[in-house]
Amino acid sequence: MRPTFPLGRAVAVAIALAFGAIAITPISASAEEDSRIARGGQLYDKWFAVTGAEKPKDTHKAWPASNTKKKGNATWRCKSCHGWDLRGKDGAYASGSYKTGIGGLRAHLGGDPAKVVAAIGDATHGLGDLIADADKADIALFVTKGQLKMESYIGADKSVKGDAMKGAAYYNTLCAGCHAVDGSMPKDLPKPLGAIAASNPWETLHKIQNGQPAEAMPALRALPMDVSLDILAYMVQKMPKK
Ligand code: HEC
Ligand code: HEC
Repeated sequence: MRPTFPLGRAVAVAIALAFGAIAITPISASAEEDSRIARGGQLYDKWFAVTGAEKPKDTHKAWPASNTKKKGNATWRCKSCHGWDLRGKDGAYASGSYKTGIGGLRAHLGGDPAKVVAAIGDATHGLGDLIADADKADIALFVTKGQLKMESYIGADKSVKGDAMKGAAYYNTLCAGCHAVDGSMPKDLPKPLGAIAASNPWETLHKIQNGQPAEAMPALRALPMDVSLDILAYMVQKMPKK
């Protein structure tokens, strides 16, 4: 169907605006918050990629000596200690190469953002001077209002509650332009997107919702949750793994 071009209406609105008859509707507070939460999610993922700060070289002082699998800048990312599911030792990082024994941040959902801001700058974290106040505020918004209860959507066996058939249409229209229909792009991907999603559905859901740090990838947070879950189900269940 061809969209009808509402020229008559546009002219009427322009005239009304010129005479001050109507005000331009400001963006709603909740829509504005979604973009800040998504940005907070990217900072939680890898704050130094988002802010352009120098990559930390040493291993973070709160990284436990018991974990020798990771070192250097990876140990400075919020997600490395608290998890993609924000459940820390009680979630997906209970085992594997990011096992640290550190707790999650689920208790802060619905809580006071000022407490998260304070934690970022406390003696355990020591990130007060490295992360700007506006960035701390966005991270705190993500933790207190934007974190997902991922266990409602992703099983411990990595199964995903979503409709892969619908997800195919969403993936092919929203993602394939950058990632190719088979998930093989861009060329520097460590493995095809289908394999990334199947091995770490929590990380993939986080990135679908919030975007990829320092890349033009969209964040789907403002769309209904089903869209993200259907895409994730399609990636995990149907997309090529090699
Ligand atoms: C190197 C590991 C590490 C990194 C990176 C890290 N944290 Fe933590 N965080 C901890 C430890 C250890 C605690 C102490 C409590 C515990 O073990 O859960 C903690 C506690 C917290 C708390 C208080 C939890 C509570 O309820 O008492 C918040 C909030 C928090 N971190 C937020 C963040 C944010 C936001 C980031 C990223 C900017 C971050 N952390 C990065 C290790 C880390
Ligand atoms: C405007 C281009 C663009 C669009 C559209 C886009 N992405 Fe991305 N995405 C990127 C780039 C660039 C990267 C970083 C690639 C890298 O690290 O090599 C990335 C990274 C990712 C990653 C992390 C890969 C890794 O390295 O672990 C996932 C998962 C992902 N995208 C999923 C999606 C999904 C699902 C969609 C559709 C909802 C989507 N992307 C849409 C550009 C895009």
